Parts: sequence; C-alpha cells; structure tokens
Amino acid sequence: MKIGILISGRGSNMTALIDAVQDNRIPNSEVTVIISDKLDAAGLEKARARGIETVIVERNKRGRAEHDAEIVAELKKRNVELVCLAGYMRLLSPNFIKAFRDRILNIHPSLLPAFPGLDAQRQALEYGVKFTGCTVHFVDEGLDSGVIVAQKAVPILDLDTVETLTERILAEEHNLYVNAVARIVAKDFVIIGRRVLFKTNEIKI
Ligand code: GRF
Repeated sequence: MKIGILISGRGSNMTALIDAVQDNRIPNSEVTVIISDKLDAAGLEKARARGIETVIVERNKRGRAEHDAEIVAELKKRNVELVCLAGYMRLLSPNFIKAFRDRILNIHPSLLPAFPGLDAQRQALEYGVKFTGCTVHFVDEGLDSGVIVAQKAVPILDLDTVETLTERILAEEHNLYVNAVARIVAKDFVIIGRRVLFKTNEIKI
C-alpha cells in the first residue's frame, strides 16, 4: 500500500512511520511521498535523509479548497492509497476528505473526544484529568472527530508540566501510530457505525 504523509513541523511521528515501513514492521507498504505545507518544516530533512521524496505545497494566501486540491493532485499522481497526517496543522476541506474517504488517518495527543484541537496536553493538564493519552483516528470533516482506530492512556503525574507530559505522550504516539497503520494497511478491520473493529488479534496495539 502506498502511503503519503502530511507534515507541518518536526515530523517525529512521520519518522516513526518511515522507519517502521523500512524495517518491515508495517509489511506490504511503502512511504511514497512526504508533503509539507511549510517550507521550513524540520521533518523534510529527516524524510530526505531516509530517501523519501518530499514535496512542499504552501498555502500562499489561497483558499483551503484550492490548496487542498493541489495536495490531492500530488497524492493521486503517485497513486497514494493511505494518507497519514503527522503534525499537519490544517483542517482538510470536504473535497480532500471525499477524495480519500476512510483512507486518511491522524494522531492526536489526547484521549478523544476529550481535548480536541490545539494544545491538547495543556488542555488536559489544566482541566485536571488524571489520565490523558493519544488517539489514532480516521479524519472526517470535523475537528478531531472521526472514528477512533486506537488509543493509549498516559497518566498525568503531580509534577508534570506541559513539556514532560508532552514528551511521555509522544513516546506512546509513535508506537500507537505504527501499530495502527500496520493494521489498517493489513485491511484487518471493519467500520460499523462509529466503531472500528479488528478481525484478528495478530497485530497487537
Ligand atoms: C504530535 O503531538 C501529534 O499528536 C500532533 O502534532 C504533534 C506532531 O509532532 N498531531 P511530530 O511533528 O510528529 O513530532
């Protein structure tokens, strides 16, 4: 399965996915292209160092629909079948979702539906919850509202700061995203209503 990854920044989840594909921990897959909406995204260099093609599609004051249409064209040109958002900081337009219905994944640093949107770790800390975590979900038209593929809980410790909590969640994000993508690539799931159900337990999340 050809995978395209969209980034805006550091790209640590992107790197985890590329490394897992290259080590065959996500069998039968290939990371075909990395697309960034930011010229200076640090992830771009990491992708190039791993031999993956990178494409920059800046927004340049265009409307979201026009910007997304160019990204969709770049993905389609390369026959990408699965799109993974990895720190891509923009909402996708309805036409983008339609072009890849049930074939776009995102990772979010909270246990959704709690704390969607920006600064999820800070939101959790300030709310006072004792557990937060990370979620891999399919992307729909809403904000972090698509059906949930996998979640991992992370406890919030009394001495946590946004930085320490973010770091512990991030380590879990990398494992969760790799394992979830492996299952999606293996087509080992069905979606019933809002529930993503796995057919076998061969791949552990
Ligand atoms: C991660 O925390 C991810 O959950 C969120 O944005 C951050 C991206 O980090 N969507 P990185 O670019 O993958 O290092």
